[in-house]
Amino acid sequence: MTEKERIGAAIPRLLAWHRVNRRPLPWRDRPTPYAVWVSEIMLQQTRIEAAIPYYLRFMERLPDARALAEVSQEELLKLWEGLGYYSRARNLQKSARVVAEQYGGALPSSAQELRKLPGIGDYTAGAIASLAFGQPEPAVDGNVLRVILRLTARWDDALAPDTRVWVTGLLRGLYPSGEDAALLTEGLMELGETVCLPREGARCSACPLAELCLARERGEQAALPVRSQPKPRRVEERTVLLLRCGDRWAVRRRAEKGLLAGMWEYPNVEGLLNPEEAKALLGEWGAEPRSVEPWGEARHLFTHVEWQMRGLLILCDRAIPELTWRTAGELFREHAIPSAFRAWTEKIV
Ligand code: ADE
Repeated sequence: MTEKERIGAAIPRLLAWHRVNRRPLPWRDRPTPYAVWVSEIMLQQTRIEAAIPYYLRFMERLPDARALAEVSQEELLKLWEGLGYYSRARNLQKSARVVAEQYGGALPSSAQELRKLPGIGDYTAGAIASLAFGQPEPAVDGNVLRVILRLTARWDDALAPDTRVWVTGLLRGLYPSGEDAALLTEGLMELGETVCLPREGARCSACPLAELCLARERGEQAALPVRSQPKPRRVEERTVLLLRCGDRWAVRRRAEKGLLAGMWEYPNVEGLLNPEEAKALLGEWGAEPRSVEPWGEARHLFTHVEWQMRGLLILCDRAIPELTWRTAGELFREHAIPSAFRAWTEKIV
């Protein structure tokens, strides 16, 4: 059997399975293209259960592209607070403005047009086109790659762009249109999320494609797909300065470009400072702290960097004017502080 024949035989079985096993999720309930778009962006780096409350809150406050185009950056980041990868939210808004201005507020239906919008790549374009518009367009994420590479027992590197191109091409030639396009996109993801689980987790006995699966026939399902070693993250040590003056805490805004662009943060500096070193630094900032003491440590993984952080609680008598001073309540209500700093936000608010 060729790979194309194998996948061709798998599609109707997968559709039949998915019709019965489809989980009810909020973005599946008569979705607008906008709802599909927002949910797919959220789900790219966030687990389904974690994304649901964010999705519901987001859609209630910003039910369409026009509302998203007009909301303040501050409120948008507040809605996204805790989800991480904030450039996703900023790109959503950039795209919403294009949609509002150039497409009369409605997302275009072709994958090709969708791909022109900021933050929409091949995966998201395929997902919106198939799920919302019934176009015969695959949406290949990590789950879909795993399903297809196991089904065909291919030892290609799942992280290599060529592999994704190959899988996308193979699927595109076999994709149905209309309701089945949406069902197939969803069903492939669903199978990868609930049955065809990574490594040793494959639940082949519950899989509707088991009889067709070459990896299973060869006993290779736990070994597939193979993934090249990603580059190790660069480790950065930082000292987070939790400055308190009366009932106010110091925050500042990050630069508009780069990691966590435009987000609020507690002042922090490179390196692991001890309280004496921190005191000296604060002297340079024009502050004379009453006390400096260790206040916990934390680690945060970004895509390419790992922060190893030490917190220092610093009590001041005088607010340094270059920083913004907020009560715990104001911080909580008005500012999106990235989850990298969660260990301290939890102590403060
Ligand atoms: N993962 C990414 N998109 C998804 C969707 N629409 N349904 C379920 N899981 C997903």
